[in-house]
Amino acid sequence: MIIGVPKEIKNNENRVALTPAGVTEFRKQGHEVYIQAEAGKGSGFSDEEYAGAGATILPTIEEVYAIAEMIIKVKEPIESEYALIKEGQLLFTYFHFASSEPLTHAMMERKAVCLAYETVEKTDRSLPLLVPMSEVAGRMAVQEGAKYLEKPMGGFGILLGGVAGVKPANVLVLGGGIVGTQSAKMAAGLGANVTIVDISLPRLRYLEDIMPANVDTVMSNEYNIRELIKGANLIIGGVLIPGAKAPSLITRDMLKLMKPGTVMVDVAIDQGGCFETSRATTHEHPIYEVDGVVHYCVANMPGAVPYTSTLALTNATLPYALQLANQGWKTACTRNEELRKGLNVVNGKVVFKGVSEAWNLPYTDVKELF
Ligand SMILES: NC(=O)c1ccc[n+]([C@@H]2O[C@H](COP(=O)([O-])OP(=O)(O)OC[C@H]3O[C@@H](n4cnc5c(N)ncnc54)[C@H](O)[C@@H]3O)[C@@H](O)[C@H]2O)c1
Repeated sequence: MIIGVPKEIKNNENRVALTPAGVTEFRKQGHEVYIQAEAGKGSGFSDEEYAGAGATILPTIEEVYAIAEMIIKVKEPIESEYALIKEGQLLFTYFHFASSEPLTHAMMERKAVCLAYETVEKTDRSLPLLVPMSEVAGRMAVQEGAKYLEKPMGGFGILLGGVAGVKPANVLVLGGGIVGTQSAKMAAGLGANVTIVDISLPRLRYLEDIMPANVDTVMSNEYNIRELIKGANLIIGGVLIPGAKAPSLITRDMLKLMKPGTVMVDVAIDQGGCFETSRATTHEHPIYEVDGVVHYCVANMPGAVPYTSTLALTNATLPYALQLANQGWKTACTRNEELRKGLNVVNGKVVFKGVSEAWNLPYTDVKELF
């Protein structure tokens, strides 16, 4: 198959969908790979590295779309790319169709085959192509929290791990899923006193078993959260209710219970946030203060560490991309249910229920198209 990798043109997107290591794998299995010039630059991969791995570098995005049977990307195509997409072309990338009606209509009109990273789903209902970004954001939350706890950055002025004779900081993690687990591990590793709250008792049992001794688990409810925030220096929000807005676990009136200079990192901001006072911020202006409490609410945290994020994402996407290249999308999606769940729009038809419901479009069972 002929694979094309365009340079991401969405504002501030520095990730790339394929690394030189990925090119080597495609080449070994007999595929041709075309990479747009400088596509990997933002993630630290040069054109020479791609060429060395066996890719052909093309100067323009138009040439990449024109030659490729399968386009692998990171973000959804933006308007200027719509016209480049060919009928029957396979696009493997994040789409988030349910949040963009124009994108849905554009992909239907282009009659592309759109396989969305975010809906590829394993039998245990986990989302293998979303997990890596939660891992990155969870770990980063502690790094950012530690930074903004420094006095010159507006924080209380406490070192997460303390020193001999001085107590470490208290870190409260709301939600013990992927984000929360990674945050707790990082904060515990730095020597902080960590508490994770979750509503799932089986999850708390699991975390209690695997976490180091400086991590406690507590049932999530309003009473416990009110008590815990009084002593917390850093609070990380990583709760998720699939398909719904995150619950406001910390309300505005609760801020006055906290110490001035407490830092709150709301990782769940992409689902509306889990603090009442959260509003989305950017890497250019990541924080603001409410009642003396520093809020960090960047909606695309992994974007700040494109090298790590690109490797984490491509480690997860490459095995699926190889299946698609080796077998073609129809056979690959017939054999692999996980991939089939990623199909959203195919040849002008919406084949994913959530998207048809979001935009009131007719739903077609994808099996009719095989
Ligand atoms: N800002 C970013 O850049 C970024 C990056 C990646 C992920 N995220 C977001 O982070 C959030 C968490 O993602 P995840 O992968 O960890 O999800 P997850 O499903 O693995 O974990 C969510 C956890 O929240 C728990 N939970 C639900 N309601 C709760 C409540 N009332 N109190 C305490 N815990 C509760 C669940 O039991 C679950 O364990 C999502 O909204 C995700 O989109 C943001």
